[in-house]
Amino acid sequence: MNKLVIDGGVPIRGEITIQGAKNAVLPILAASIMADGESVIHNCPRLRDVEKTCIILEDLGCDVRREQDTLYINPENINNCKIDEKLMREMRSSIIFLGAILAVWNKAEVGMPGGCPIGLRPIDLHIKALRKMGVQITEEFGYLKCESDKISGTQIHLDFPSVGATENIMLTAVKADGATVITNAAREPEIIDLAKFLNLMGAKINGAGSSMIVIEGVKKLNPVEYTIMPDRIVAQTYLISALITGGEIVLKDAIASHIHSGLALLSEMGAKINTYDNTIHLKSNGKIKNVHIIKTMPYPGFATDIQSPFMALASVADGTSVFVENMFENRFRHVDELVRMGADIKVEGRSAVVRGVKRFSGANVEAYELRGGAALVLAALNAEGKTTVSGVDFIDRGYQCIEGNLSKCGAKIKRIHI
Ligand code: EPZ
Repeated sequence: MNKLVIDGGVPIRGEITIQGAKNAVLPILAASIMADGESVIHNCPRLRDVEKTCIILEDLGCDVRREQDTLYINPENINNCKIDEKLMREMRSSIIFLGAILAVWNKAEVGMPGGCPIGLRPIDLHIKALRKMGVQITEEFGYLKCESDKISGTQIHLDFPSVGATENIMLTAVKADGATVITNAAREPEIIDLAKFLNLMGAKINGAGSSMIVIEGVKKLNPVEYTIMPDRIVAQTYLISALITGGEIVLKDAIASHIHSGLALLSEMGAKINTYDNTIHLKSNGKIKNVHIIKTMPYPGFATDIQSPFMALASVADGTSVFVENMFENRFRHVDELVRMGADIKVEGRSAVVRGVKRFSGANVEAYELRGGAALVLAALNAEGKTTVSGVDFIDRGYQCIEGNLSKCGAKIKRIHI
């Protein structure tokens, strides 16, 4: 088991190149099985979730190899349309393979993904949409069994702009018979990245990034070479690390237009920010101001994934901030651990009232999920004294070598293997 040991109080000062986006690479790796040859995908971050996705690709019969940050995926020997429930439980986002496997085989069998620490994570929107496209789906013995004589394009209105459901519909529709129109589609940048990859393969997708996406089915998809977009959540996490420690940071390969809401919030909380050609420069003025209310929303609203890192920041701001978590029903698991480090936070249902304190104090804390774990690291960087963060495997799901990046910028942080 890994732990991070952090001696707080050192201002973060330096430059970090932002890794490829976890939530873009996962659906793009799934999409690669639809090509009739080897695709080359650059800027693939070294993360537990990417490793698990590569295991699923190999389980399906693909040849997968990594050279530095590039993955080579060859699906020519694909020979399986089933994803084992153990793999699905380990990483529920593997549900994104459903659409791609259906596009290849017209059938699929995947374990029910189940929930995770942040919520139940239902997939009713995925199932309702695929059934409308002509996929027969039965749920039995913990598996989703799917098959279809012919997958047909159709009009699909999403009750909620679900990222995963939008991606699954796109993956199913690209080789369907006829056109599919998705209304109330998710607008996240990762959806645009997936559409760019698919269009490069020969798909015909218009409107990605807007709430209406039109996909015209094609017969064939070709292998491509592609570079994954930078991770907008990781970028904001490192920006917060500089503000919470009174330091200064330069992010390379960071796209400001992906994080307008986060940058606006950081400026409101006292940061001085300059952005120019895929670079973001943040300088602290030594103070952190509170924000009256922060509500998580679908993109381009304030992202739920950066809620807990911002809560760590607000915990040591001057004044009180209120967080409202509208996206997931259990995304305040980090609150108890921040309180253990001296934060003053009261949770009422989906709201958390954060009364700023002067500074965190070091403690032994536990990460229970990915982004909450990142919030604990940020709090530890600010804290007086030593903090030990366990449950680092969760953090490794989304942050490539977090301790390496932070220690390059002056942090006293090390990983210990217990
Ligand atoms: C994606 O999850 C991301 N994961 C999440 O990031 C992110 O928090 C989320 O989008 C929202 O932005 C990946 O891309 C791998 P949703 P996803 O479907 O697709 C409800 C991280 O930390 N819903 O947009 O699962 C659902 O319960 C992770 O990197 C249904 O009700 O998110 C939730 O309340 C965490 N029925 C809301 O929609 C469905 O069929 C948003 O879910 C699907 C979703």
